[in-house]
Amino acid sequence: MNWNLLVVAVALAAPSVHGFLRFGCSNLVTERFDPLVTPGQVSPHVHQVVGGNAFDLTMDPNVDLAKASTCTTCRFKEDKSNYWTAVLYFKARNGSYIRVPQMSNHNTGPGLQSGGMTVYYFQPSAPTKDLNITAFAPGFRMLVGNPMRRKDDIDPNTAAAQATSFRCFQGADPGAIGAPGAPPGDTFHLPKQVCTGGIRSNIYFPQCWDGKNLDPADHQSHVAHPVGPGFFGTDCPATHPVRLPLLFMEINWDTRPFNDKKLWPKDGSQPFVFSMGDPTGYGQHADYVFGWEGDSLKRAMDQCTVPDGLVTSCTTLTLQTTEQMNNCRVPVKVPEVVENKWLKQLPGCNPIQQGPGYATMVKRCNAVSTTVNAHLPTYAPSVVVPPWSVCNAGPTPEPLTPSCDSIPGEKPVPAPGATPPPA
Ligand SMILES: *[C@@H]1O[C@H](CO)[C@@H](O)[C@H](O)[C@H]1NC(C)=O
Ligand SMILES: *[C@@H]1O[C@H](CO)[C@@H](O)[C@H](O)[C@H]1NC(C)=O
Repeated sequence: MNWNLLVVAVALAAPSVHGFLRFGCSNLVTERFDPLVTPGQVSPHVHQVVGGNAFDLTMDPNVDLAKASTCTTCRFKEDKSNYWTAVLYFKARNGSYIRVPQMSNHNTGPGLQSGGMTVYYFQPSAPTKDLNITAFAPGFRMLVGNPMRRKDDIDPNTAAAQATSFRCFQGADPGAIGAPGAPPGDTFHLPKQVCTGGIRSNIYFPQCWDGKNLDPADHQSHVAHPVGPGFFGTDCPATHPVRLPLLFMEINWDTRPFNDKKLWPKDGSQPFVFSMGDPTGYGQHADYVFGWEGDSLKRAMDQCTVPDGLVTSCTTLTLQTTEQMNNCRVPVKVPEVVENKWLKQLPGCNPIQQGPGYATMVKRCNAVSTTVNAHLPTYAPSVVVPPWSVCNAGPTPEPLTPSCDSIPGEKPVPAPGATPPPA
């Protein structure tokens, strides 16, 4: 991804430019659950989780993630938050499904993270007058998107219309420069064509809060997007006046094993479906549970104003290596296979629902509903080598490209095209 021109443009336009954090978080666990929805509205489906290892399916609001976590899959040790999204499956012509692997983003090295995502926190920037942020609060949770949506029914003049989108990569090319989310480069629906370098999800969370409710029953009404069409420089609505850092995430789906159109449906339609049975992509959604230690996020937002987003530029936070990130895991607790195998159906009760009507719940669901106390996984985290480089070995004109030796203890990175490390 290429924020540098955006950053340069913002820097030229606004002397009061504030910086941003941009960092990888590896996979913590992948399993079927859905605590942040009203029961009876959405059937639990498979999500990938990143962040602090105090994550637990019960989602007890009294657990302080920052205190209870002993490790995190995120680059900054202080971030014990949890972030999760639904995962993508490929549907073969014979009707079987297999989970689509995930891979490191552009410029997130050194090191190749195991699955997961890239997380961003942006300071607000002029011309908005809401420059005084509140960096969330313990117990704060929110979600964005609607897993049951199957059509584009959002007013295009609102920020919400671009809150969740997809980028179709051709080879190593990062695509359009600037903030993701806008058509024609990025689409609200899953790409219809072959994306030779993979597909990236782009997800913006609401950045305006009512300042009172940490997590209402719908997990959504306490927050709002800014007024108007964009995420940057726009004002919060009067109903939600407290400015939060803008939380944004990107997930890279390695669709390269499925590029051959002979594997696609005979009618030429695209073959990927989200775990909630969504072949459109309009149901893309994500969840956030705040879990930064103490005042670390607020401190970082106040002090890390170098507008390059490099993790090494934010010296008030503590870095860990990709290996440490990849080795923080929690065991799967729902006893069922959701990845690395061809499946007859999507896990849970999530039949494909094409829309355009909103998806509905299956009436009688016989899916596994028990959990087990499992041991930590002992197998090595699997790592995919993306088609692009994640860092730069030498001097570079790319201000966002970290150099390969910038993080102490970091291991060398295989070049694109090299054999991935053994899983
Ligand atoms: C279905 O197709 C996939 C992809 O071609 C193949 O790997 C898998 O073995 C097939 N499954 C069955 C049950 O035939
Ligand atoms: C900034 O926001 C905080 C929390 O909402 C508030 O207590 C404080 O007074 C604000 N500061 C300024 C300078 O507006």
